[in-house]
Amino acid sequence: MSTEQLPLDKIMAGDCLKILAGLPDSCADLIVADPPYNIGYKYDRYNDSQKHEDYCAWSGQWMRACQRVLADTGSMYVAIGDDYAAELRIIGREIGLTLRNWLVWHYTFGQNTKNKFARSHIHIFYFVADPKEFTFNDDSVRILSDRQKQYADKRANPAGKIPDDTWVVFPRVCGTFGERAEGPNQLPEALLARIIRASSNPGNLVLDPFCGAGTTATVAAQLDRRYLSIDISAEYVHKARLRVANTLKPTAGYKLDGLSPLEMTELIRLYQENEIPAGRLLAKPHFVALFTEQLNRRLAKCSQTQPAAISPERIALALQCLATKNLLPVLRTDQPSLRSRPR
Ligand SMILES: C[S@@+](CC[C@H](N)C(=O)[O-])C[C@H]1O[C@@H](n2cnc3c(N)ncnc32)[C@H](O)[C@@H]1O
Repeated sequence: MSTEQLPLDKIMAGDCLKILAGLPDSCADLIVADPPYNIGYKYDRYNDSQKHEDYCAWSGQWMRACQRVLADTGSMYVAIGDDYAAELRIIGREIGLTLRNWLVWHYTFGQNTKNKFARSHIHIFYFVADPKEFTFNDDSVRILSDRQKQYADKRANPAGKIPDDTWVVFPRVCGTFGERAEGPNQLPEALLARIIRASSNPGNLVLDPFCGAGTTATVAAQLDRRYLSIDISAEYVHKARLRVANTLKPTAGYKLDGLSPLEMTELIRLYQENEIPAGRLLAKPHFVALFTEQLNRRLAKCSQTQPAAISPERIALALQCLATKNLLPVLRTDQPSLRSRPR
């Protein structure tokens, strides 16, 4: 298959090894892989209780297949639980990928355990094909630094800081959340958005060999990337296609006069990541101005056309409106009595 014949904006049903084998070399700018973790999870068409050696051998096969289709300047993120993190990190080195970050996603709303400490994190390896040439859009992921938030320190970089490698602001997607889709083990959309904005550009191809509920494709479509996702379950593929179609409807997301659904979605994500409660944020025009600059920089990386800048006044109005309607996400800093419902 030539690059011109690439299946773009598609979610394909089948074994990722077979489908990847049919793709041309170096065609994907960003790969996000969230495979089954071999922990006995119940999937529609996959047995998640493989022998240790078999799981490791299979992991080597799909990681190699992904590495072949990864662009020379591409990035590959691999999510994995504790049990196989060490093995997958070594496979990454063996196949020639360079690790830029060993990220840890620490999530709230973990599941209870009876006789051991509750699981509350996964590992996400951020690999690149070439350690010297890769996309990293720092302006699209920056958040306010403590110097800006706590100390009003004039030495602070006005653009804010790049987030740490431990990601603590994205809760696990629970059944009550607005973004909850049908399908297995869904990652949060805001987490995928951080990865996609940072490591790809609008119009780039984002590939996901383990589509599941379709989170990667959904967010890639929201952010004006091309997507190609694969899942062995035809049922999951069907549901993921519906999810992507829904996210692209003009009626999707929150509506507010003057802001598009994408602008609203990114505003809510920025609010969640900056962790400044609405009352404090709105009381300080300086914060609103910094917030607005960050949002405009992010939005510039979310579309192939240059968006018009949004003013601080419109941002303040939108935040006020979202707060009044109880539509802002719960922050770790919120007092329990003041918490809005999870989204
Ligand atoms: C952890 S889930 C992915 C969840 C996804 N990241 C999301 O946010 O919705 C892993 C998925 O891999 C799929 N899978 C397992 N083996 C596969 C294979 N050989 N080829 C393609 N998909 C496979 C499973 O059906 C499952 O949907």
